Amino acid sequence: MSKAKTTYTCGECGASFPKWSGQCPECSAWNSMEETVSVASASKAGPKGRGNWAGTATADVVRLSEVKAEDTARRLSSGLTELDRVLGGGLVPGSVVLLGGDPGIGKSTLLLQAQAHVGAGQGTLYVTGEESAGQVAMRARRLDLDPARLDCLTETSLEVILATAAARRPAFMVVDSIQTVWTEALQSAPGAVAQVRECAARLVQFAKQTGCSVVLVGHVTKEGALAGPRVLEHMVDAVLYFESDSGSRFRLVRAVKNRFGAANELGVFAMTDKGLKAVGNPSAIFLSGQAEPAPGSCVLVTREGTRPMMVEVQALVAPSTLSNPRRVAVGIDPNRLALLLAVMHRHAGIQIADQDVFVNVAGGIRVSETASDLAIALALQSSLRERPLPRGLVAFGEIGLAGELRPVYNGEERLREAAGQGFDQALVPDGNLKGVKARINARGFRTLADALAAD
Ligand code: TYD
Ligand code: MG
Repeated sequence: MSKAKTTYTCGECGASFPKWSGQCPECSAWNSMEETVSVASASKAGPKGRGNWAGTATADVVRLSEVKAEDTARRLSSGLTELDRVLGGGLVPGSVVLLGGDPGIGKSTLLLQAQAHVGAGQGTLYVTGEESAGQVAMRARRLDLDPARLDCLTETSLEVILATAAARRPAFMVVDSIQTVWTEALQSAPGAVAQVRECAARLVQFAKQTGCSVVLVGHVTKEGALAGPRVLEHMVDAVLYFESDSGSRFRLVRAVKNRFGAANELGVFAMTDKGLKAVGNPSAIFLSGQAEPAPGSCVLVTREGTRPMMVEVQALVAPSTLSNPRRVAVGIDPNRLALLLAVMHRHAGIQIADQDVFVNVAGGIRVSETASDLAIALALQSSLRERPLPRGLVAFGEIGLAGELRPVYNGEERLREAAGQGFDQALVPDGNLKGVKARINARGFRTLADALAAD
C-alpha cells in the first residue's frame, strides 16, 4: 500500500517541495504554495544510484529521416475560418489545446460551434463540468446547431471521462473546464494546483495515445493569467487566449503558444445572436470609422501572427496639474510609452514632461510590436499640437534609444495592406523602402526627428 505524502506546490511555476515557505525558492513568487497530497507513485522511484541502469530496458531510437512527418492535411477543420487560422490550419489529431478567457466571453459557445462542425463527419464528445446537459442543449438550439451531431457528457471525474472517451473514441473532445475535473488519485479539491496538473497530464496522455484532438477550457485569474499552475502551458501543444474590449462585440483569439502554427496569430470574431462569426477583414473593424481625421489619431499597420492589420492609435496630451503627470497606456506596454516619451524629449526636442499623456489602441486590441513606435509618436505630437494628421496616412517603424528609426520586418506586405485598404500615404523607416512596389506614396526617414518634422 503506497503512503500518502504531503508536498507543497507553487501555484505559479508548479514546483513541489517537502516544506512550506512564504516565497517559492524556484520562481520567487510570494505566498503561492499550496498543500497537496500526492500518492507516491511507482514512476517516481527510478533507479537508485546514478549510473546504475542495470535491469532497465532500453528504448528504440529513431532517425528523423525515417519518420513520416505529421501530415497536416489530416487536420480537422473547426468550421470557423478564424479559429482554424489561429490553430495554424485546423485541429491537429492527438494535440491538446488550452483555451483561456474571462467568464462569459464565449469559450463554450465557440467550442460548441466547432463541435457541431467536426461532428458532421467524425465522433465528438463535449464534456462539461460547469453546465447541465439541458443548458448546453439550450445553447445549441439558440445557435441553430444540429443536436444530432452533439454528444454531451456531464461529468467531472477524470477516470469516468477517460473511460467513456476510450470506449467511444471521439476524434474531437472538449473538456469545459479543466478546473472542474478531479482525479481519485489525489485528495485535494477540484481546481487545486495538483488536481489541475494531474488531470491535464492524463488528458494529454490520452490525446497522444488515441489521436483524439482535445481542447481544454481554462479559467483565468483576476490578473488575466490562466488559473492553475503555469506548467499547464508547457504540457499542452497550443495555448489560446480569448480577449475582448469590455462592451465590444468583437472577440479576439490569440495563440500565445502553438507547436503547429505561428505564435501570436490572431483570429477575429464577432459575437452575434447566433453565436460567434468569423470576421474576414479585421482592418475594417479596427479603424474607428470617424469621417474627419482628429488630432491625436494615427493609423498603424501592425502584424499579428501571419497577417498585417490596420489599427488606430489614439493619444491625448493635456497640461497636468499633478507634480507627477499621468501616463496611461491601454493596448500598448506602459514601459514602451515611457521610453518613447523620453526619446521624443531627448532626440526630437518635444517638451511633454509636464503633460498628462493617455494612449489607447482603438477596438480593444493589444499591440505588442515595436513597429507601433512611430505611429504612437506621431499621434502624441498630433495631440500636443492639436493638428490632425493628413487623411489616408499610415505609419509604422521602430524607434531606437538614439532616436533612430529602425526598419521592421514585412514592410512591403504592410504597405500593400495599407494600399488595399485605401490609404495613399505612408511614413516609414528608410530601410523599409528598398525595392517596394506597393501602390502607395511611402516616405522613408532615418530618424524620429525627421519623421516628426515631415508631418
Ligand atoms: P459562453 O460561451 O457561455 O462564455 P464562457 O464559456 O466563456 O463563459 O458565452 C456566453 C456569453 O455569450 C453570454 O454573455 C451571452 C453571449 N451569447 C451571445 O451573445 N450570442 C449567442 O448566440 C450565445 C450562445 C451567447
Ligand atoms: Mg463556459
